[in-house]
Order: sequence, then C-alpha cells, then structure tokens
Amino acid sequence: MLRDGSRQSWLIVSCSELLQTLVPMCLEQPVPDEKHINELLLEIAKRPRAALAQLPTPIHRLHNFEGQLDGQELWIKRDDLTGLEGGGNKTRKLEFLVGDAIETGADMLVTAGAIQSNHTRQTAAAAAKCAMQCALLHFRWTEDAGPVYRQVGNILLSGIMGAEMFLDETDRPIEDQSPLVDFYEYLRSCGHLPYLIPAGASEHRLGSLGYMACAAEIVKQSKALDLHFDYVVHCTGSSSTQAGLVAGFAAMGEITRVIGVSDDDETSIKRDRVIRLANDALAEIGMSVRVLPTDIEIITADKSPYGAAESETFDAIRLLARTEGLIADPVYEGKAIRGLLALANDGRFENGCRILLMHLGGTPAVHAYANQFGSLKLSQFPI
Ligand SMILES: Cc1ncc(COP(=O)(O)O)c(C=O)c1O
Repeated sequence: MLRDGSRQSWLIVSCSELLQTLVPMCLEQPVPDEKHINELLLEIAKRPRAALAQLPTPIHRLHNFEGQLDGQELWIKRDDLTGLEGGGNKTRKLEFLVGDAIETGADMLVTAGAIQSNHTRQTAAAAAKCAMQCALLHFRWTEDAGPVYRQVGNILLSGIMGAEMFLDETDRPIEDQSPLVDFYEYLRSCGHLPYLIPAGASEHRLGSLGYMACAAEIVKQSKALDLHFDYVVHCTGSSSTQAGLVAGFAAMGEITRVIGVSDDDETSIKRDRVIRLANDALAEIGMSVRVLPTDIEIITADKSPYGAAESETFDAIRLLARTEGLIADPVYEGKAIRGLLALANDGRFENGCRILLMHLGGTPAVHAYANQFGSLKLSQFPI
C-alpha cells in the first residue's frame, strides 16, 4: 500500500490489500516522522525540568475489557505509574513547574486542591524529592465522601511525605481557588521563598508542557509498536492534560483525536479552557500551529458534581477491576471508563479502530470512598 503524499488518502496496489478497503480508514493513518517529533521535543527541552517521572510509561492492550466495546481495539497508557508516590498525571506537569521553581530559587512549593486531591499529594511528593518544603491549602470543593475522607488516601500520604497542610472550611465551587494568593503572601510574610502552583497545575504558562511531551511519547511508542491510535480518551478536569495532548499532536501534525470525559457535569468552560491552554502552550514554545474549537471534544458521562459519582460509575470501576486487575477512582478515572463505554455504546467509534485510554492515576483516593463501594464480603472460615 502506497501513500500518495496527502495525509489521509491511500492507493490500493494489491488484491490482499483490497480487502483492507473493507476496514475503515481510521486503521490506516500515517504517523509523524521523527523530524516533527524531535522539533517538538527540542523546543520543550529548552525549559528547565526536574527529573521526577519514570518515563516512558507503559502502553499495553486491554484484551479482556476490550470485549465490552463494539469491535474496537483498546490499549491503556499507564500514567498511574509516572513515579512519585501513587503516580498520576501531575508528575509530568510538575517536572516543568518544579524545574522553574528551582531555577528561580524557591524553597517551598505551594498549591491547593480538594481534600482528596491527587495534585496536592503529588506536589508534596515532588517537594520531598527535591528537598523543598511544601504547603498545601485544601478546599471544601466537595462533601466528605465518607467517615475517613479526611484521614486516608491522598491527604494521609501528603502528611507522611512532610507537607504542611491547611484547610479552608468555606463551601466553594470547584473552580474557586481565590484564597491561594493570600495563602502565598502569608507564607512569604513568614520568610519562605514559595513558588505558586495553581490547583491542577493547569493555569500556568508551563502547565501543558508535560502532556505535550507525552503526546510525543505516545507517537514514539506507537511507531515502535507499528500501530496508530485513532483516539485517545481520558478524564478532563483542570484541563492541561487535554490541552497538552491536543497541542502536542497538533505540533507534530498527528491526527489522533483526543476525547476528554469531564470530571463533573460541565463541559463548556472546560472546552474554552482547553483551547486557550493548548494555544498558549504552542505560543510558549514558539510554534505557529494553532488548535481550533473543532479539535476539542469533551463529553459528560456521569452527571454528578465534582467529587461524587453515580452507581453506574462504581459499576464501571468494578468492571475494569474484574476484567483487567486495574483500579480506577470514582472522582476521575472511573468517569473516564464510564465515558469510554458510553461513547462505544453510542457508536462514536468506527468498527476496528484503535483507542488509547489514559490511566491518569488517582488510585489513593479510592480508600477515602471505601464506604461507597458497599460492604466487603468476608466469609467466616472454618464454616
Ligand atoms: C487521576 C486524575 N485524572 C484526571 C485528572 C484531570 O486532569 P486535568 O486536571 O489535567 O484535566 C486529574 C486531575 O486532577 C487526576 O488527578
């Protein structure tokens, strides 16, 4: 089969290949050449970067769970294994923000999040690894999920890793992190040299670079595996994961479609934010290509607010756990799995196409939601 030079059209040259006309075009997409991948990585490499992550993270096929879809091939990228305690997507983002913090002479990382925030826990881990102090401001962005919500999971790990932890008990909508600047000023007035990291590490000029680099990592891995991913599906919250992936693929001329699954019942603020962050990131590294509104796709699968989940999401978590031995949390990854199933069910994916599901971490939070999984069956023995 010869490519005729354009991005999507192909010339059929043999009988056996004629058979492939029966499978959709999505199976036969070209991947960027090394030059485009390296150009992107060289631009990103001009920024200071703290070595925090274990990269590349593995990609493997989900042979069992795949049967739940509608004739698609399903792979997973294990960004739950990025390194630092508990792993997750913030490790990639923090490599750039912490690199900048160290270069500017900061001695403390300062950030905010929900009580069971993965981001605050990963910031505590990054600070520990870089011999910096860490101050975390927790917000009541969601109701406590159960009796041990404030004692286990992410917040427990942050405490063990030495972060100084604060709690603002005011009920706030999820996007509201307005006290963070006062918190930063307070820490400065105490004599620290703090570096301010917004919640989710997204609203920052370097926040999307980690997932731009991840886009290049995905393309390199897919080249090595001699395959092409037609779709990347993942959970979207503060939005720099999706922004970075979309911007990275655009910078390389890669046509993989990224679909975000919202971590709450909202998509339009996130859509605007993904476009803005993606284009800011491209401008930051001096690339002239820009993403368009049509490049951004975000769906809602679970209509619960942030931090809560419907029983169907817990069912999706159990399904992944019992078919693949992998755990997803109810705040983020469970919603992504549910979204993936809903998309397949709605016929969004072509038959035979290849999907890469991003596991972005979050497993420690499962413990804080223990009571919502129902009681464990522990049979007496001897009977
Ligand atoms: C486990 C997990 N998945 C997905 C996300 C969403 O990523 P982003 O905030 O970059 O949209 C987060 C962010 O907090 C997360 O912790």
